Parts: sequence; structure tokens; C-alpha cells
Amino acid sequence: MLLPHPVFRSEELRRVRDAQCLFASSAPPLIWTYNGRGALFQVLLANRLATARSIVLAPSFHCPTVVDPILASGCAPEYYEVGADLDYDLDSLTARLGPRVSAVIAIQYFGWRRDLAPLRSQCERHGVLLIEDCCHSFLRDAPLRLAGGEGHVAVFSPWKLAPCVTAGVIKLNHVTWHPRPPRPLPFGDQLDVLRTLASEWLSYSSVPAAMLGRAVLRRPLIQGLTQSPDELLPKSPESDREGGAPPIVYPFIARTAESRAALASRWVLKRANLEWICASRRRNYDQLFAQLRFNEAMQPLTGPLPSDVCPWALALRIPARARIDFRLRRAGVPLFTFGETLHESLSRGGTPPDLVQRAKLLADSSMCLPVHQQLSSTEIEWMADKVNAMLGSGSGWHRSSP
Ligand SMILES: Cc1ncc(COP(=O)(O)O)c(C=O)c1O
Repeated sequence: MLLPHPVFRSEELRRVRDAQCLFASSAPPLIWTYNGRGALFQVLLANRLATARSIVLAPSFHCPTVVDPILASGCAPEYYEVGADLDYDLDSLTARLGPRVSAVIAIQYFGWRRDLAPLRSQCERHGVLLIEDCCHSFLRDAPLRLAGGEGHVAVFSPWKLAPCVTAGVIKLNHVTWHPRPPRPLPFGDQLDVLRTLASEWLSYSSVPAAMLGRAVLRRPLIQGLTQSPDELLPKSPESDREGGAPPIVYPFIARTAESRAALASRWVLKRANLEWICASRRRNYDQLFAQLRFNEAMQPLTGPLPSDVCPWALALRIPARARIDFRLRRAGVPLFTFGETLHESLSRGGTPPDLVQRAKLLADSSMCLPVHQQLSSTEIEWMADKVNAMLGSGSGWHRSSP
């Protein structure tokens, strides 16, 4: 069975002195948080206290994990439009800046880099903080480095690329204030992360100790290791019913949002082979992009791979997604979605209805295919074949789709 995200396998770690430890440097300062939600929350709270402003401009295409921290920090979201090309219009966004606005969140979707320098200078004219949300990919390639050099602050969610279960990072580029240091993560949460890592290792590693453990421990026992907290593991069951599985919910939990990253997550991340992760993702993306047969039923939302991108996923625009995703899942394609559910505050008064409608259209038609480092070339080919068979030009679905 192919997995949508990488899992912890000790054979992929490096000795720490061999690994390219991008997190070792203290310039610019990095702050470890439990996850990306925690990073956003802590930045927004510190900025609200420093500026006494409370409006945060957020992109119309988002997932609720971007908006929950805005509300939790005592701010209020207002939305700006993101087009079908995942870009925003600088002039209309600039027109929204003013004395009530505390921050703008700009998402670098799927790891693609939007030049934020013009927006940053506009933000500076109005005393507004620009938060570069690099939660989809914390890496840039050629040369390999941390992403997020353009906002006043950048936030990362490293567990989307590296198998560290959970982790977040704040990178302070150009700010005068410092967020309050996060609290130590409670012992029970530390243990939950360790248990999930142990269970993944026992289930998937091919080192002799893990294989022996797998043979000795029965499967229910291994699975019993991961009675993890709500936010660690996807909750929604994969559903066979028409309309697909209910979207996975990643809740905002104040206790962890205020905390530092788990020690075990940091341990894994410091040893993760980031060069290999980035190179494998790039190779898988290129292969998948080349093998998919695009047509009006299936368009790429992310285009050909630029040389500096370490991709989170290959994002597609599929107008009939709700009628097709459950069939692909049933066929074993490990697809996932981003922005499938938009935050309920988007539809409340104040947001222009046509902006809401266009955001919903984007949300309803986007779908992600994984390109992570643990997928082999044969598996990528298999995935492309399955998707092409259902959606590629010449397929039954393509012919029958409106
Ligand atoms: C753009 C973006 N920002 C922030 C987050 C929150 O990251 P985390 O899940 O690590 O809390 C997500 C989560 O998917 C995201 O997609």
C-alpha cells in the first residue's frame, strides 16, 4: 500500500555530523514550535501585543490550520483573493493595508516561491508584518537551504517533508520583537510523539532490529503503540462512498500551540538526510509530471519544477474531484487534499461573495498527488498509470466529463 506521507525509517537517517544541519545556525534566529499552527500562533500573538492591531489578511485559498491561530491569538481574519494560478494581485492587496492591519500571511503554495519583495516593501510603508508561510516546504534547492527569506518572519512545518511526526519552526528575519519562548512540551505529548515514531519504525523500517520486532510483536500491539493525540494522526476513515472521505481535520490545540517541538521530532530532523529528501522529491515530481496525461479533466495546478523548489506534492486541478477522488483512493492512489475545507469565517459577512465563490471553486477542484522520498520510480509510474486510466486524455472519465 502506498502512503501519502513519509514514515520514520531509521535506515534513512544520517549521523548528525554528516547531515546537512540547516537548523544549527542561529542567524537568523530560529524558534522551535510543536507544529506550523503553533508557529503562526506565537508570531501573531507577539505581533498583536507589540502593535495593538488586530486584523490579519489571510489568503482566500487556505486550510483552516492557517486561520485558527489568527483567532486564537485574539486577531480577526480578513481575506484577500488568491487566483487560480495560486498568485495574488499586489495592487489590490496593497489597497487593503492600513492602520488596523497587523499582519499579512502569504503562503508559498506547495513549495513554489512567489517573490514577496514588492509586498514586503508595501507592508513596511504601513507598519504591517509580512508572514511568509513556508509550511508546505521548508527547503529550497540549488544550493540546499532553508526557505523563507522574504517575509519579515517565516513559518515552517517540517513534518510535511521529513518523517518527524510533528514540528514547527519560526524564522525571524526582520523583526524588532521576539515571541515569548515557547513552553516545554508536556511529558504526555513527548511520549505520544515517541510512540508514533516507534510504531512507524516497527511497521516500516527494514533494519534487522525492526524486522525482528515486527516478527515478535503482533500487529495489534504495534498499532497499540500509537494511541496518539488528536492532531498527530488523520482521523477520518478512508471512505468508499460516493462523495469521498470526509476531509481530515487538524484541530488547533492551545496546549501544544504554546509549546516547543517534541525532543524526538528535533532529534529526527537533525539527522534527516535533507539532500536525499529534496533530490528524491524533485526526481519523483519530474517523473510524475512527465507521465501524467493532462487534459481538460485534469490540469496541473503546480507547473514544471523550478530549479530551487523542493515540492510537497504535485497539485492538480480536477473539476470533477468530488466524483473521482474516492475512486482513486479505492484503487490505492494515496492522494490527499489541501484547502478542501475552507475556514467557516470566510463565508461570514464582510468577504465579497464572488471572492468566496472563486475560493470554493479552487478548493473543490484541487487534489494533491504525493512525490515524497519514500516512493520509488516504479510506484510513481504505477500511480501515474492509475490516474491516467481514470482521468487521462482518452480515458472513460475524460470522455464522459463535462
Ligand atoms: C499553508 C499552511 N500553513 C500552516 C499549516 C499548519 O501546519 P501544521 O499542520 O504543522 O500545524 C498548514 C497545514 O497544513 C498549511 O498547509
